[in-house]
Amino acid sequence: MSIKKILGTALAVASILGFAASAEAKTTVRISHTQIETHPDHIGFVAFKNFVESKAGDKYDVRIFPNSSLGANEKVLELVKMNSVQFLSVSTANIESFNKKYAVFSVPFLFTSESKFEKFITDPEVLAELGSDAEKDGFRPLGAFTAGTRNFYSKTPIKTVDDLKGKKFRVQAGPTNVKMMEAFGAAATPMSFGEVYSALQQGVIDGAENNELALTDQKHGEVCKYFSYDGHQMCPDLIVASEKFLSKLSDEDRKLFEDAAKEAQKAEFEAWHKRIAEAKEQAKKMGVTFIDVDANAFREKVLPLHQQLLNENPAMKAMYDKASAFNASNNK
Ligand code: GCU
Repeated sequence: MSIKKILGTALAVASILGFAASAEAKTTVRISHTQIETHPDHIGFVAFKNFVESKAGDKYDVRIFPNSSLGANEKVLELVKMNSVQFLSVSTANIESFNKKYAVFSVPFLFTSESKFEKFITDPEVLAELGSDAEKDGFRPLGAFTAGTRNFYSKTPIKTVDDLKGKKFRVQAGPTNVKMMEAFGAAATPMSFGEVYSALQQGVIDGAENNELALTDQKHGEVCKYFSYDGHQMCPDLIVASEKFLSKLSDEDRKLFEDAAKEAQKAEFEAWHKRIAEAKEQAKKMGVTFIDVDANAFREKVLPLHQQLLNENPAMKAMYDKASAFNASNNK
């Protein structure tokens, strides 16, 4: 081997070793979510990654795991508690079984306008109040992503609230969702997000409820051709952090991650409003018909459930009162 070749090989080995050493010195930060890579939640987390790595790329290697590749959210929340995964975007419905306070967002028709909902979930005071049990829970919400409005979609058109009668709908996990469907006169089948497409296809369920992106990104619009705008729920996807991870950070690094969550939130909201209009057009091309229903009739049907849910779950009372007061206020 020529001297030049030996030197070249030595340099290559040194650079590989050097790289390995510096990579080892970095802390890997794992982020998990359930959506595809064009979804606003993913775009939000790319902003998070860029923010952290632009400020402290020598210390942190941020890796995003989309498409539930680390598991369904209910399972990953356990990993977050253990600090095997550091960040997760998770619907409040999936947090209900860990802390009953989060069930508040599953109360149907809690908010009457999307802009009020958006203001409420991004209010730092609301997030702090949700996170007040963080040490016990093992996770802490640092920011919120909007997930728009949840509506019914099915294989047959839902034009009135009576059209729900006797049908089987997939809902997110949690007893509140099951009670909501019962109040609507339908049956609830809770299952994780990733299982819905085949359940629809195989006829295990007649329909589901979600925002427009489920039709396109999850391809539910291939099976369900009717989407009815009743707007029964607005549930945020919270950016939750492992409390174990946060508690080990210096004040400076903790602030870095808190700021990164805010960056993610901002990027997700921007992407959301752009993407939702596109998704609607995309779904129409898939053959989906969008139906404007008398949402008030849907609301009236389940309003008596509010008091029942509050009696059964006093843990959500304080947040329910706060959200109701905000919803009734002049805040647009
Ligand atoms: C939305 C939401 C997800 C949630 C999903 C579901 O897509 O953004 O967090 O998991 O609905 O219905 O399961």
